[in-house]
Amino acid sequence: MSETVRVLLSEEEVDRRIREMGEKISRDYDGRQVHLICVLKGGVFFTCELAKRISVPVSLDFMSVSSYGNDTKSSGVVKIVKDLDESIENKDVLVVEDIIDSGRTLSYLLENLRRRNPASLKLCTLLDKPERRVTEVEVDYTGFEIPDEFVVGYGLDYSQKYRNLPYIGVIELS
Ligand code: IMP
Ligand code: MG
Repeated sequence: MSETVRVLLSEEEVDRRIREMGEKISRDYDGRQVHLICVLKGGVFFTCELAKRISVPVSLDFMSVSSYGNDTKSSGVVKIVKDLDESIENKDVLVVEDIIDSGRTLSYLLENLRRRNPASLKLCTLLDKPERRVTEVEVDYTGFEIPDEFVVGYGLDYSQKYRNLPYIGVIELS
């Protein structure tokens, strides 16, 4: 079986949207510092591009979670593989994710972070597949709502491949 990747969102479309999101976040956090929490590994490309478009002061931290399950489906049981380096107490935290699918990973993560007493806690995602939602999550900033298809690129992988694509594509198996 061979894999091909069909372009769903071009590099230009993604770049333009991230610029808009950065401008909106800069307005919303005017006069404050925003503490971005990048969810590894998928969120890393989006976090870097977004951070460059934010004009208020930005600090960064990283977290890695894994859901027990296979590559294409999350089980809802989440494990913290790498925790934050710094405390988020009294910080204006913005969690940056690649994609929200069932919502299980994020609802676990947000609940965990909320208990650490940040000044505020918001969520930003590049992609959202609302049709797939199992657990309710409130998303503050969404790049694109996409249909229920398995996507790669811009940090998203299929068996650890394709993260480096500068666009969002759909895997087609033939
Ligand atoms: P959730 O807990 O089901 O919302 O799972 C979210 C995680 O599953 C994301 O952070 C991705 O790592 C992964 N994921 C969900 N959909 C896709 C996809 O279409 N392509 C690549 N990874 C995906
Ligand atoms: Mg992820």
